[in-house]
Amino acid sequence: MTDAPTRIHVAGSAGTAPYDVLVGRQLLGELPGLVGDKAKRVAVLHPEALAETGEVLRQDLTDQGYEAIAIQVPNAEEAKTVEVAAYCWKALGQSNFTRTDVIVGVGGGATTDLAGFVAATWLRGVRWIAVPTTVLAMVDAAVGGKTGINTAEGKNLVGAFHPPAGVLCDLAALDSLPVNDYVSGLAEIIKAGFIADPAILELIEADPEAARSPRGPHTAELIERSIRVKAEVVSSDLKESGLREILNYGHTLAHAIEKNERYNWRHGAAVSVGMVFAAELGRIAGRLDDATADRHREVLASVGLPVTYRGDQWPKLLETMKVDKKTRGDRLRFIVLDGLAKPTVLEGPDPAMLLAAHAEIAA
Ligand code: GLY
Repeated sequence: MTDAPTRIHVAGSAGTAPYDVLVGRQLLGELPGLVGDKAKRVAVLHPEALAETGEVLRQDLTDQGYEAIAIQVPNAEEAKTVEVAAYCWKALGQSNFTRTDVIVGVGGGATTDLAGFVAATWLRGVRWIAVPTTVLAMVDAAVGGKTGINTAEGKNLVGAFHPPAGVLCDLAALDSLPVNDYVSGLAEIIKAGFIADPAILELIEADPEAARSPRGPHTAELIERSIRVKAEVVSSDLKESGLREILNYGHTLAHAIEKNERYNWRHGAAVSVGMVFAAELGRIAGRLDDATADRHREVLASVGLPVTYRGDQWPKLLETMKVDKKTRGDRLRFIVLDGLAKPTVLEGPDPAMLLAAHAEIAA
């Protein structure tokens, strides 16, 4: 027998429907219930690497009486292109996919971003269900309705807010995740700890080695707590007109690092360095106490995440941050902390302050 899954509710916002995020083990039996009886067809969109899982889901849905097709897309970010989206639109068209039919996106954050985008654009929006298989996708990408693809000019430049009709986080999917991918996801979990739920930090600090394992004693609780933080934020501000910006804690520098590394760094690793930078900025701006600023470096390093970056790259990082899509005019914006779990915006910080914060993360 399996335990009942934890159900985290995301309220509808900006005219969108509410939905639940289910967290547990062996959840795939929940899928037909989410697809519902109005749908006749279901498209299971999965990356090459998850061909087997995609087929299991497709077969399950067929057994339940749906006309289920599988759409295989390239692995990871390779899938987030307009060409791959067009390939998916073609598959939907050839299967006579209608407005009441449903897309299921199974995979990491790139796959769920693509699946959500295809769902947002097909017939101006059909229902979709996210089945995230990485920590990062469970706690971030699959919840909150940001969907999109990349263009030659940058990541996520084309997209739509299109929340899923449900999210299934099957923790069994994490058992086979490479340790570096698992640990990278911990950065977003730790972010949720600093911006809103310090109990997350306490759980990790109590046994950092255990926190590095998907079989650790607190895996489910860490993931559930992080999803709750995100669910609460996006329930009140889907379209990032205010509160949602706090989810970008550490991300302004992180995006610049990722670009500078030609996206060969894991997102979580860049967010880790970005959070240490943001903590230093908060400290230098006279907002954040020393102990909480230092706690960033300690907890992130304790699970094996990076806390420094090549010092000679600062001019390039600064330039990139200035053209970040979240910058307003040429005023840089950072989320900093006024104290533990007290995120706020720091706009247009003095260049000397930025340089001083950078000195603290320069390797
Ligand atoms: N990943 C940040 C957000 O969903 O708003």
